[in-house]
Amino acid sequence: MVAEYYTVERIAREIAAPEDWDGWIVAIEDGSVVGAGGGGMIERRVGEVFVLYLDPERRGEGIGTLLLDAITRQQLAHGAREQWVSVEPENVKGLPFYKARGFQARGTRPTWGSAPEEGRSSLRLMRRLNQSRAQHQS
Ligand SMILES: CC(C)(COP(=O)(O)OP(=O)(O)OC[C@H]1O[C@@H](n2cnc3c(N)ncnc32)[C@H](O)[C@@H]1OP(=O)(O)O)[C@@H](O)C(=O)NCCC(=O)NCCS
Repeated sequence: MVAEYYTVERIAREIAAPEDWDGWIVAIEDGSVVGAGGGGMIERRVGEVFVLYLDPERRGEGIGTLLLDAITRQQLAHGAREQWVSVEPENVKGLPFYKARGFQARGTRPTWGSAPEEGRSSLRLMRRLNQSRAQHQS
């Protein structure tokens, strides 16, 4: 995944011209990127968080929440009423974070990029968005 989706060339292209999503949002401190994420609309009124990562040294300080809030504001502006995310069932960092932010498990689907014969599934989590509140939906 890293070798395919996170090369410098690919990220540079995604920053220059995001296609089919809202593009990268970064958290910057003293000129350094300490976190990054992004999402987009997958259907009318339905947003999704596609990526969300932090500098591993900077977890638990609220930076992930700030990035999620920024992604959520974009999706609210596009008219989103609900927001989805896929998380690997063994992701012990991502799952508690999303649950703390009001997401609930709503099923599974084959893990993106995995071969069907691998039989790998991701959890699908969802939270409803309130158009009158732009953040900390829980
Ligand atoms: C998931 C991730 C983005 C969270 O960002 P973060 O900045 O550490 O999270 P925050 O500090 O904003 O925490 C927000 C809430 O989640 C909870 N939380 C976050 N990580 C948690 C964990 N590992 N266990 C329990 N609760 C956790 C916090 O307690 C907090 O809740 P509260 O404010 O109600 O107390 C970050 O840990 C990360 O980059 N993980 C690796 C990549 C990843 O798993 N990405 C998501 C998959 S798409």
